[in-house]
Amino acid sequence: MSKKPNSMILGTGRAVPKRVLTNFDLEKMVDTTDEWIKERTGIERRYIADEKDTTSALCADAGRAALQAAQLPAEKVDAIILGTVTGDVTFPATACYVQEMLGAENAAAFDIAAACTGFLYGLMMADSLIASGKAQHVLVIGGEILTRITDWTDRATCVLFGDAAGAAVVGPSDGKRGIIDTFIKSDGRLTHLLCMPGGGTKVPPDVALAEKMMFLRMEGREVFKYAVTAMGDAAEHILAKNNLTGDDVDLLIPHQANMRIINATAKRVGLPLEKVYINVQDYGNTSAASIPIAMNEALEKGRLKSGDCCLMVAFGGGFTWGSALVQF
Ligand code: ACO
Repeated sequence: MSKKPNSMILGTGRAVPKRVLTNFDLEKMVDTTDEWIKERTGIERRYIADEKDTTSALCADAGRAALQAAQLPAEKVDAIILGTVTGDVTFPATACYVQEMLGAENAAAFDIAAACTGFLYGLMMADSLIASGKAQHVLVIGGEILTRITDWTDRATCVLFGDAAGAAVVGPSDGKRGIIDTFIKSDGRLTHLLCMPGGGTKVPPDVALAEKMMFLRMEGREVFKYAVTAMGDAAEHILAKNNLTGDDVDLLIPHQANMRIINATAKRVGLPLEKVYINVQDYGNTSAASIPIAMNEALEKGRLKSGDCCLMVAFGGGFTWGSALVQF
């Protein structure tokens, strides 16, 4: 690697609710089949929150596991950055609830609403805070309870999403390993293609409830087209900027939304599927949680080893998209 990293990932963690919903369970709820869902998305099952679960508690569990893996006491965390579009409440930030749960009393805590790209937006900010000397240790979390904003009568969306949280502790680089580069982008002309239209100040909750605007809405086919292009672009851009090619990448961790988008992204950078981490079959689309969960699993399973170059790529509502290059 040419560039010396400023920050590195010191530990990761993940958390999921207990309940699992399979495609066969969904067959009993809407007009769909296991075969259709698998063929179009690759998803076989997903975790579903129950009434007691909260986004903050899932995020705190993932954060606690990451701190433990990093062997870092919570008091040493300077910032908690939480990517979520399904926070506990509109305000205050869900990151503040997580701060209290972890006892990270010295941290500044805030949320980022970049949908499925939320974790990579957070990683970019953590790296920048550390590079600028404004923070030493940053806890970056991605966590969602998307099933609370899912319309369970809409077969085009309710089969896609799941609930989970993933986290990473980012700290100063040891000079060799670390975050080589990050890239983020958005296109605000396309907000309408993937959103929850109600519940904010534009369409207040009482009106939104009556109009079914408190649910996630997605133009699946349009989102698919943009996701394929943007994820490929983000991957190619960060590799080219760092004078690398797909051959230099040991593991690609794409946002886990749809197997066909994952395949297309791998193909754009010339990577065989053996070099791609895939767990969409077990989680569905968990938005901001998907990349940190995949990273945590990849480390646990030895798919990411010391010295490996990892390329992460995501795309989500906004539209937002981005990539990160990390030397482990
Ligand atoms: N079961 C059976 N049939 C279904 C289902 C279902 N669950 N859902 C839709 N269909 C039907 C449609 O009604 C349609 O029927 P018709 O031809 O009779 O009209 C047919 O299947 C094809 O529908 P399409 O929407 O064209 O199916 P497509 O192949 O595009 O797959 C999907 C749909 C899986 C949603 C795909 O478009 C997709 O993955 N889009 C991208 C989603 C994504 O990646 N989002 C990422 C960001 S998410 C975030 O930021 C939170």
